[in-house]
Amino acid sequence: MSSEETHIKAEPVQEKMQEKMQDEGPAAAAQASGSSGSAAREKALSCRSLLLTGYGGYDKVKLQVKTLSPPQLQAGEVLVRVKACGLNFAELMGRQGLYDPLPPPPVTMGMEGAGIIEAVGKDVEDKKVGDRVIAMSRSGMWQEFVVVSNERTFLMPDQMSFEEGAAIPVNYLTAYMMLFDMANLKPGKSVLIHMAAGGVGIAATQLCRTVPDVTVFGTASAAKHETISQGGVTHPIDYRTKDYAEEIHKISPKGVDIVLDPLGGSDTQKSFNLLKPMGSLIVFGAANCVTGQKRSLLALAKIWYNQLSLSALKLMTTNKAIGGFHLGYITDEQLFSGAMAKLLELYNQGKIKPHIDSCHHFEEVVNAMRRMHERQNIGKVILLPEPKKEEKEKPKSKAELGEHAEKTETAANNKKEKVAQEVKAEND
Ligand SMILES: NC(=O)c1ccc[n+]([C@@H]2O[C@H](COP(=O)([O-])OP(=O)(O)OC[C@H]3O[C@@H](n4cnc5c(N)ncnc54)[C@H](OP(=O)(O)O)[C@@H]3O)[C@@H](O)[C@H]2O)c1
Repeated sequence: MSSEETHIKAEPVQEKMQEKMQDEGPAAAAQASGSSGSAAREKALSCRSLLLTGYGGYDKVKLQVKTLSPPQLQAGEVLVRVKACGLNFAELMGRQGLYDPLPPPPVTMGMEGAGIIEAVGKDVEDKKVGDRVIAMSRSGMWQEFVVVSNERTFLMPDQMSFEEGAAIPVNYLTAYMMLFDMANLKPGKSVLIHMAAGGVGIAATQLCRTVPDVTVFGTASAAKHETISQGGVTHPIDYRTKDYAEEIHKISPKGVDIVLDPLGGSDTQKSFNLLKPMGSLIVFGAANCVTGQKRSLLALAKIWYNQLSLSALKLMTTNKAIGGFHLGYITDEQLFSGAMAKLLELYNQGKIKPHIDSCHHFEEVVNAMRRMHERQNIGKVILLPEPKKEEKEKPKSKAELGEHAEKTETAANNKKEKVAQEVKAEND
């Protein structure tokens, strides 16, 4: 862990924020820029963040503690104190240098979080200091304080926890836009969800349940089947021991209407073959290229060699559709705000609820990444900026205290006896 490393360049928003930090107090800085902020921040801010220092294994992500002087917000920006942030598969890829939208290291990763507004810039009228918000950014969310565009913050329902708020944007926006905006999910349809026990998989399953009579096929390792069945997967398939295409054909000989494909390579071809006529395949990831902690050229070559390549004419003659989806390349803010409003409504109606796998403090980021890499997670892995509290020693029970007192007394008596014997021996 390093401290006071304010010189380290981070993602653009953070860098801009650091450049704008002044040595005057935050209130002065806020006033100068027409923004308003909490008077509590009249001192420099101590900010914990996770920094990607280079491409490679777990050791490339380092916790740092910086001292930031207060930000001058631009019009339309807000300063958020982040209480929880999401770990995504994209960050595993980013650490290996496989995620294009991430600026090169040194950079703070993280695309989503939830927290409290600490200051608002000019022209921010729908939010105020103290509001609880979900926040999104292309990168840079894995830090205690972040400046983001107000357009990328969303007021949280009162009953939503910060952990849940941080679990919504990437998983649920992705699942929602693919199912409803691209694949046009309708009642009675069937959907194949790969990685069904992952964050996007669980979000997609919950969203399928909001439409009547949708059949969900979900691939996951066997130990996760009970959870995903309870969550709404009609037919869980253990892709590790069985061929998922064969299993689906046994149940539905004609195949499925929609496939969400986050795997890439030969799985894309297989998924395309599983589509019924009029079916849609949405390609949205290449998880097959992540095999170990570090980048694997063999896995990359395999995925490239096996990728699906089709002519438009072939598509026409098969009556199938293929779409590609990447949240990181969406720039139309209205697409986000429209889908987010619907998701928050579904949350308020109790129809969706993030499944939190585990929460890890920043100092435990390696455990968090390892959990996802080793495919142990069911649902969302969350990172917490707040320092991990030292576990207090458990208060001892009366019986233990009694036993302890007895032991201490016996030890003291033994010692006394030993000293007496030594003195006696010396005198003799
Ligand atoms: N395009 C976009 O905008 C976008 C947005 C979000 C996510 N994604 C993509 O969606 C996919 C899922 O992301 P997520 O955040 O939901 O993942 P996640 O929560 O990390 O899910 C991982 C789970 O998927 C399963 N899995 C199956 N095949 C895997 C493989 N080849 N590598 C690793 N895990 C595998 C594992 O469970 P089992 O025990 O069942 O194997 C693992 O626990 C990723 O490919 C990601 O890049 C794309």
